[in-house]
Amino acid sequence: MTETTHTVAFTTERLAKAKEIIARYPEGKQKSALLPLLHLAQEQYGWVSPEVMDYVAGLLTILPIEVYEVASFYTMFHLDPVGKHVIEYCRTGPCCLMGGEDVYGYLKTKLGIDTGETTADGKFTIKEVECLAACGWGPVFQVREKYYMNLTNDKIDEIIDELSKD
Ligand code: FES
Repeated sequence: MTETTHTVAFTTERLAKAKEIIARYPEGKQKSALLPLLHLAQEQYGWVSPEVMDYVAGLLTILPIEVYEVASFYTMFHLDPVGKHVIEYCRTGPCCLMGGEDVYGYLKTKLGIDTGETTADGKFTIKEVECLAACGWGPVFQVREKYYMNLTNDKIDEIIDELSKD
């Protein structure tokens, strides 16, 4: 059975958190809780499937399309299953000028995958994103909340070795 065929529901704790977040907004403005609820959903499921987005829409009493529009706009939401570590590299100009294309190319070769793909062991997914607001320290990528900056091929070797231990 795949993830998408499971009944989608927040854990008891997560549902309580969702309700607390929704209650922060005035009646009729519950849609304002959409982003934090999508984060809660992704924390639980690892990605936001259509079924998960439908569930979130139900919690907020909004149309599923309203959730799809937001989730597909922000690159931090994964619309497909991802690996344990999602490496989101900055593809914007300043990072590329600092050698980003070369080090990102090295990363792809090292992992044997291209952008948008996941390694066969399910450990790594590579995504490309726009500016991560660390332009002075490029090239840079992000794995969850952690930034890895001034990347070189040697640093990538160290980072991948470290993450592979998880
Ligand atoms: Fe890469 Fe801004 S251009 S972090």
